[in-house]
Amino acid sequence: MFYKTDEPHGLPHDPLKSCVVPRPIGWISSLAADGTVNLAPFSFFNLLCSEPPMVMFAANGKHPHGHKDSIVNVEATGEFVCSMATWDLRQHVKETSAPVLPDTNEFELAGLETEPSELVKPPRVKASPIHIECRYHQTVDLPCDIEDGRNTICIGHVVGVHIRDEALTDGLIDTARIKPLSRLGYQEFTIAEKVFAIPFLKK
Ligand SMILES: Cc1cc2nc3c(=O)[nH]c(=O)nc-3n(C[C@H](O)[C@H](O)[C@H](O)COP(=O)(O)O)c2cc1C
Repeated sequence: MFYKTDEPHGLPHDPLKSCVVPRPIGWISSLAADGTVNLAPFSFFNLLCSEPPMVMFAANGKHPHGHKDSIVNVEATGEFVCSMATWDLRQHVKETSAPVLPDTNEFELAGLETEPSELVKPPRVKASPIHIECRYHQTVDLPCDIEDGRNTICIGHVVGVHIRDEALTDGLIDTARIKPLSRLGYQEFTIAEKVFAIPFLKK
């Protein structure tokens, strides 16, 4: 089949998010200007470059109460942390996506413990095996078809990385053991259960 995105696709659900899969999930913690702690998952999330290391998450649309708290907070206070979402934490990930008011601390809402960060003020998700501390670099505003909404790409400079000892085997991150959660389309998720190497070709 082929469909033009400005015409009906004829399928029971919009297939587009299943066409770019799996998407890693950045579990973004930030502080509001008044110090309220915020936590939310973002599957439009990725590492963008490594020299210097930069990451992005895209906060899209809006809540009934306004723009997504994460982008409002990061633009106001200039820092965020990406904790890794894992299979073990999948229910907590869902709970922290609730469209609650900015004065709600989603760590408390989901019964998650915090752990202080080293270089930035937002705390980390203690139960996560990997945390990436970031300083805000720039927002890219994309077109947004939702009235009063914002489709934003929030880019951060990675200033520190925590990796739990248990996440390492022989000095390498053991992806199969820590089971990072990724998003597919619809209401589907996946984890990397099969990990294999493709040795890079050398001339
Ligand atoms: C696994 C998962 C991934 C999500 N990814 C995104 C995303 O990439 N962008 C987005 O705007 N919302 C995404 N959401 C929805 C947000 O988490 C939700 O709108 C949340 O309330 C935003 O919180 P905030 O207002 O505290 O920033 C996702 C939800 C889940 C459960």
